[in-house]
Amino acid sequence: MAKKILVTGGAGYIGSHTVLQLLEGGYSAVVVDNLDNSSAVALHRVKELAAEHGDNLSFHQVDLRDRPALEKIFSETKFDAVIHFAGLKAVGESVQRPLLYYNNNLVGTITLLEVMAKHGCKNLVFSSSATVYGWPKEVPCTEESPISALNPYGRTKLYIEEICRDVYRSDSEWKIILLRYFNPVGAHPSGYIGEDPRGIPNNLMPFVQQVAVGRRPHLTVFGNDYNTKDGTGVRDYIHVVDLADGHIAALRKLDDPKIGCEVYNLGTGKGTSVLEMVATFEKASGKKIPLVIAGRRPGDAEVVYASTARAEAELNWKAKYGIEEMCRDLWNWASKNPLGYDSSPASTN
Ligand code: NAD
Ligand code: UFG
Repeated sequence: MAKKILVTGGAGYIGSHTVLQLLEGGYSAVVVDNLDNSSAVALHRVKELAAEHGDNLSFHQVDLRDRPALEKIFSETKFDAVIHFAGLKAVGESVQRPLLYYNNNLVGTITLLEVMAKHGCKNLVFSSSATVYGWPKEVPCTEESPISALNPYGRTKLYIEEICRDVYRSDSEWKIILLRYFNPVGAHPSGYIGEDPRGIPNNLMPFVQQVAVGRRPHLTVFGNDYNTKDGTGVRDYIHVVDLADGHIAALRKLDDPKIGCEVYNLGTGKGTSVLEMVATFEKASGKKIPLVIAGRRPGDAEVVYASTARAEAELNWKAKYGIEEMCRDLWNWASKNPLGYDSSPASTN
């Protein structure tokens, strides 16, 4: 029997890529998403890409905080595990509207954990973030590095991690894997699914992508006076397909009887500056990205990259792709879907 996985936020960027790999890996996936920051078209395309496995996907347009709706889904299906992506993630918006973030991310997660416990499903993989490393004193960031938060979004990740640790301490039947993602970029190599942010993108590569297709005139580089090779901020960019693969590895790890509440970095271990990333994208796309140098963005760290040792040793997972493949696949998606999922003719809906 195929293992049944509930995927919250499965219509979103990382979720849709992970759902595809679940289906291809022989799992059955039930997606719960309120489509607040995503499109049902993404799931139609996942179904098509999954070909004969596509029938193992079902979707409920439900908000996680809607307890009766969630209860109904859990009473209809016995899940082997939950992968919990659903959450709001825009740092700037979280500063403007902290209660929205605390309500959505914390109440959503607590409701999910309560319903899981009630239905005897105590296996969880949660999307945490490298944001919990704040401005790291030392790099690479290891899972033992001090954690802190610089904004309400980051605090929701920190609090949810602590909630998960407390839940495990209270009941050792729980098995929880907290995955701290570094900077996901790129798209499925088919160019059929990818990142489609609503409004003005906050993150570097979605912004670069919109400049490349002519939707924005230039990229603003936030600071060129950092103590880095070219003065711009350094991050650990990871191909979204590698990241999705990390979730399959985490699910396998949940079968290990020895695990409790564990944390793993998902990154490549390599640092890349803003200017290096832009240059690599220009090469992959043949497009010039006009730059405007501006001051530092408040709350930005100088250099953040992962130690990958624990994930390699314990999850038996390692990122395969580099920034060239990330930029190539990002451009493939962007050029086929310049307006994201609203673009035609690739749109199936
Ligand atoms: P995304 O916005 O594309 O996906 C999140 C999905 O959750 C969306 O489809 C949204 O509609 C849904 N959602 C939000 N609140 C919900 C609710 N209350 N009920 C039901 N559905 C809800 O974002 P993503 O980039 O795919 O990120 C997935 C997860 O990974 C998030 O938790 C995010 O914080 C975390 N993360 C993302 C990054 C990144 O840079 N993309 C980095 C680190 C961590
Ligand atoms: N940057 C620019 N111009 C832009 C956007 C970004 O110069 O328009 C720079 C930033 O200053 C930073 C780098 O590009 O040096 C990367 O910025 P992102 O916003 O893409 O990524 P961050 O590392 O700042 O943060 C993102 C998410 C966090 C998450 C973190 C790690 O916003 O929530 O990745 O996963 F925690």
